[in-house]
Amino acid sequence: MLRTHTCGELRLSNKEREVTLCGWVQKSRDLGGMTFIDIRDRYGITQLVFNMKTDAGLCNKARKIGREYVISATGTVKERSNKNLNISTGEIEIMVKELKVLNPSEVPPFTIEEKTDGGEELRMKYRYLDLRRNPMKNNIILRYEMAREVRKYLDSIGFIEIETPVLIKSTPEGARDFVVPSRLKAGEFYALPQSPQTFKQLLMISGFDKYFQIVKCFRDEDFRSDRQPEFTQIDCEMSFVERDDILETFEGLAKHLFKKIKKFDYEGTFPRLPYVEVIEKYGTDKPDTRFEMLVQDITELAKGKGFKIFDSVEYIGGICAKGGAGYSRKQLDALTDFVRKPQIGANGLVYVKLNSDGTVKSSVDKFFSREDLNKWAEKMNGVTGDVLLILAGERTKTLFALSKLRLEMGKQLKLMDKDTFAPLWIVDFPLLEWDEENQRYHAMHHPFTSARKDDHHLFATDPGKIRANAYDLVINGVEIGGGSIRIHDKQEQAEMFRHLGFTKEEAEKQFGFLMNAFQYGAPPHGGIAFGFDRWVALFGGSNSIRDYMAFPKNTAGRDIMIDTPSLLSDEQLKELSLKVVNK
Ligand code: AMO
Repeated sequence: MLRTHTCGELRLSNKEREVTLCGWVQKSRDLGGMTFIDIRDRYGITQLVFNMKTDAGLCNKARKIGREYVISATGTVKERSNKNLNISTGEIEIMVKELKVLNPSEVPPFTIEEKTDGGEELRMKYRYLDLRRNPMKNNIILRYEMAREVRKYLDSIGFIEIETPVLIKSTPEGARDFVVPSRLKAGEFYALPQSPQTFKQLLMISGFDKYFQIVKCFRDEDFRSDRQPEFTQIDCEMSFVERDDILETFEGLAKHLFKKIKKFDYEGTFPRLPYVEVIEKYGTDKPDTRFEMLVQDITELAKGKGFKIFDSVEYIGGICAKGGAGYSRKQLDALTDFVRKPQIGANGLVYVKLNSDGTVKSSVDKFFSREDLNKWAEKMNGVTGDVLLILAGERTKTLFALSKLRLEMGKQLKLMDKDTFAPLWIVDFPLLEWDEENQRYHAMHHPFTSARKDDHHLFATDPGKIRANAYDLVINGVEIGGGSIRIHDKQEQAEMFRHLGFTKEEAEKQFGFLMNAFQYGAPPHGGIAFGFDRWVALFGGSNSIRDYMAFPKNTAGRDIMIDTPSLLSDEQLKELSLKVVNK
């Protein structure tokens, strides 16, 4: 090794030792008689000292060294007179005898500091420099530590990690596929896996009853802060299990991570809420349950009183913001603007302020009596000092808008403590989702998900009402993972494809391999996959998964560091028998 110690290692106990450190120059300070250089590596920062009196030549050499130069310094560990107790090596410094420049550096395009002056695009372009910064470095280390704990836990309960191929045939997970042209077979393409779904099911048929894999998945879908085109799943599957076995096993994984990474013991079991209930109470299937503020349906109470807007709608519901009666007109107008944003979609906002002087002030005083408003307040658990915020419209859309308003109020009233983790399982998802545009059903999770036995009769009468053996894990409003108990019977799988509008031939062509495999003794099985990037970001305290990936894509799906996607040469295109029509 070129070094004897790391830059985060030396303490007073090493006093008078001769050491060699290697690293990057964080900063240097020239105080005339003395020059100080802070040398940095992955482990920390150590102060190097050069003394003009004892070695002018060396000191002059040190003065010429710029930021981010890679250097090696040999010297003696000394006790610092001016200690810096904020850093682990702050009680010592190295009196340098020998200094080598291992590699000079250009001036970096942004400061490599805790807080940098570089914008996100610039930092993405020079990602390798951004990763030198402490916050980014710590994110990547957190990611590694979580992966290590996931492997430790799953290994301890008998899971084995098995790799599955990356060049496959499309698996439907609801997004578009990324495809790879075949050179050897002109006009044919591989698809990159949206998840290893069918492979893990095949592994169950092979008899590997507890599988997992920390694996890259690829989905060509619209970007959000919690979505990347290429992301990582903790993908798991088990045989001979029912739903509750899966929930218990992976609740164990979540608790293990809480304990090892966040250093707290989660007491008791995670709440389990049926989909229908969670939508009714929170307006969304990804509720942030760190705070109450439940949605209340007041349709019955508010309809038929002559207020036209309410009388013509399907649903009227609201939330009660505790202590919100002090909201000014301006603040309420801002909330109205908020719910009217196209991405929220409400038409307007009705408020009822339960003022602390006992008066009630609402935006619909003309249409509703004090008694009416009191009834709403009672239904919504509103008391003096609160404000009721009410939306009306088509049920699903209004519930969605209420879920957003609830989150906004949670934020404004500071109800989302970043050190609190509120996990819950959402169970009994609908099996099928109606697609208005194409007038057909889609699988809400994926087509390999089984229906609850007690709902099978609904296939003939009301398919939209069938509940699936599917579940999601949600923590603090983030969908961390989802899975299901699978169909393992050929006939049942063929039926499902039929309900999803596949012809027999289409199903055979796309999924024949799976249905064939089902003929050779497929065990009952089920599984789950967790969005690893999302979980790391949640534990790291952010909702941008980009910050927790070493080399992410930007919001337009580009890797601006390596500058891709990019054009292929004419030769490559020819070799692949491809022609680009619209450049
Ligand atoms: P699903 O599609 O729900 O299930 O994905 C599982 C989890 O993966 C995460 N996730 C993403 N994270 C970042 N960027 C994306 N584009 C992205 N898409 C999904 C989410 C999600 O909960 N094969 C099934 C699992 C199963 O049934 O076992 C599947 O992939 O956190």
